[in-house]
Amino acid sequence: MSDKKEFDRDSISNTLIVAIGLSLVCSIIVSSAAIVLKPVQARNEDLFRKQIILDVAGLMEPGADVDALFASIDTRTVDLASGTYADGADMEATVAIPDDLDSAGIAQRAASIDVYLVTENGRVNQVILPVYGKGLWSTMLGYLSVAPDGNTIKGLRFYSHAETPGLGDQMDKESWRAQVDGKKIYGDEGEPVIRVIKGLVPQGVTGTEHMLDGLAGATLTGNGITGLVQYWTGSHGFGPYLANFREGNTDE
Ligand SMILES: Cc1cc2nc3c(=O)[nH]c(=O)nc-3n(C[C@H](O)[C@H](O)[C@H](O)COP(=O)(O)O)c2cc1C
Repeated sequence: MSDKKEFDRDSISNTLIVAIGLSLVCSIIVSSAAIVLKPVQARNEDLFRKQIILDVAGLMEPGADVDALFASIDTRTVDLASGTYADGADMEATVAIPDDLDSAGIAQRAASIDVYLVTENGRVNQVILPVYGKGLWSTMLGYLSVAPDGNTIKGLRFYSHAETPGLGDQMDKESWRAQVDGKKIYGDEGEPVIRVIKGLVPQGVTGTEHMLDGLAGATLTGNGITGLVQYWTGSHGFGPYLANFREGNTDE
């Protein structure tokens, strides 16, 4: 018998070395993949955002070059408090939302936010605003397109939420999205009164220009849409900007 200690593959130290070595190799592979794929992910997110904005603007065409189409859209930063353009503003700064104004249920928002101006024949024909807020199960993120009168809705499109398929996701249906076009945000007092009602918008009654069809069996998601659209078009949201937009006074 030799003096050499026999190699024991099943020893505790060996098992530990293999386990640690394997986890090290795996973590290096996963972190490298995350680093390498980060720019691709950022690029895809950017493309997706542009696609949704083009879609709500009614400019998206199947198979079109998204970047080329988006080149016609002017991105401007709005300081929400003053309602004026503040390009180059600190996009990290946040503002707390007082409880009594927080119909979107989001508690805080950025002080300055990008909006998207769509021009046709040399004139701005709509501005697209990011909007978001709580539904029943999730935060719903979307874009709202408003005509140059600062009051008429041209489109509302949600691109991320986790409401129940078949119930809370009915705002994604083409028919629901189509009826939004032409609705008016503000009532006589200048406050946002646009709202999702229960049931379908009736005919022959006054005020239907402020009503959106309800989501059958999903009133709570519908209430969430009402809350977020009213917040973002209200005095603490883009209200001051939309007033300036209507008057053409968006520059300081
Ligand atoms: C599994 C399940 C999922 C639901 N998902 C939603 C939803 O995504 N949005 C919603 O408003 N209501 C949802 N509801 C229904 C709500 O609990 C509530 O009944 C409904 O919003 C009331 O609307 P109605 O008055 O139009 O029926 C869900 C209910 C169940 C049981």
